[in-house]
Amino acid sequence: MQRFTNPRDIFHGKGALEALKTLEGKRAIICVGGGSMKRFGFLERAENYLKEAGMEVTIFEGIESDPSVDTVMRGAAVMQEFEPDWIVAIGGGSPIDAAKAMWIKYEYPETTFEDMCKIFGLPKLRTKAHFCAVSSTSGTATEVTAFSIITDYEKGIKYPIADFEITPDVAIVDPDLAETMPKKLVAHTGMDALTHAVEAYVSTARSDFTDAMAIHAIEMIQRDLVDSYNEDMTARDNMHIAQCLAGVAFSSGLLGIVHSMAHKTGAVFADYGAHIIHGAANAMYLPKVIAYNARDLVAKQRYGVIADYMHLDGANDDEKVAALIEYIRGLNDKLNIPHGIKFYGADSYPTEQGFVPEEVFLERLPEIAKNAILDACTGSNPRQPDQAEMEAVLKCAYYDTEVDF
Ligand SMILES: NC(=O)c1ccc[n+]([C@@H]2O[C@H](COP(=O)([O-])OP(=O)(O)OC[C@H]3O[C@@H](n4cnc5c(N)ncnc54)[C@H](O)[C@@H]3O)[C@@H](O)[C@H]2O)c1
Ligand SMILES: [Zn+2]
Repeated sequence: MQRFTNPRDIFHGKGALEALKTLEGKRAIICVGGGSMKRFGFLERAENYLKEAGMEVTIFEGIESDPSVDTVMRGAAVMQEFEPDWIVAIGGGSPIDAAKAMWIKYEYPETTFEDMCKIFGLPKLRTKAHFCAVSSTSGTATEVTAFSIITDYEKGIKYPIADFEITPDVAIVDPDLAETMPKKLVAHTGMDALTHAVEAYVSTARSDFTDAMAIHAIEMIQRDLVDSYNEDMTARDNMHIAQCLAGVAFSSGLLGIVHSMAHKTGAVFADYGAHIIHGAANAMYLPKVIAYNARDLVAKQRYGVIADYMHLDGANDDEKVAALIEYIRGLNDKLNIPHGIKFYGADSYPTEQGFVPEEVFLERLPEIAKNAILDACTGSNPRQPDQAEMEAVLKCAYYDTEVDF
């Protein structure tokens, strides 16, 4: 038996933010990030809609990008005090993910961060509050997913919390919010969305339900991502929907080792100034992992199907896989994303020698590979890498060399 789980309601389309008026409750806490939602007036609008719904509203602001365990605990303490029956998270993946983890701690104050990280091991939520997520970036799709990514900065590791319990009750997918994204954010979040769809399509946990969502997301992303990056607002609006479809696919269909690698490299070089942004990491690693996974015959055939839907050339599956890899590399060029960690420079742009020196990478490689194998996303990857293989894939992702094993 498999399970396909989504929010009870997904309000989508321009102006959908207004759906906040339909929430029923007494007290709502709005969880929000560093300022973009306030600056563009969305926070005030959200607050007013909730007040119109007759709720008392408080705001927890300043949730940082790649939120920390500490932020989660602080937010949960505010919730204990205010006792909301609605948690409304608005912004990118970071504030929404943080709010999901705060929700767990609010419902079960004795829970530790370690408890939360037990995959599909959460107790029943919704004894105190329901959850509404309003996404402002077009990538993570956390507004519809059963995941939250929290960073433990002491260990330099991102931990996924995964359980259908944290699937939001209500998702609001309003493209108006995505229109204010700067180009770089469009690029990174868009490649994150493409990675979600591709990984979900070849995952061992896939199903016919998730396939339908993944394929349509891929077709839309192929059509709209580059135009969205180049400030075409119709394409930008479409991307906001496409990333959500990809989210519906991977929330039930799960992911693979592109994400395992991204989670374990994102913060580990922070002491060298290299915070490898999630979407950029995925964009660099996806072509390498496709080559690695294509040694699995089922995965190869499924990449071939993706290539067919994308109308890429190829007389057989090997050629189609190669065409898919080339297509993704071409996308990275159009979006100004490097092809390897070695070339990951300031502002995430490609450069000859990026932040992470070779000797530092090689020294940390065994630990990174070990942690990537243990990541929650590894289990559903088509191939199960051992330590040596994971190190080898990561090396290819550092030097941008070909995966031939
Ligand atoms: N839960 C999941 O399923 C899932 C999936 C993938 C990634 N993630 C996690 O999500 C996080 C990344 O989220 P993200 O990529 O959405 O970025 P983010 O939430 O970290 O935001 C990045 C920056 O963009 C700004 N911003 C957000 N929306 C904006 C808008 N509309 N206009 C202008 N500026 C805006 C923010 O203020 C912030 O400075 C990472 O921690 C990643 O690991 C979670
Ligand atoms: Zn992702």
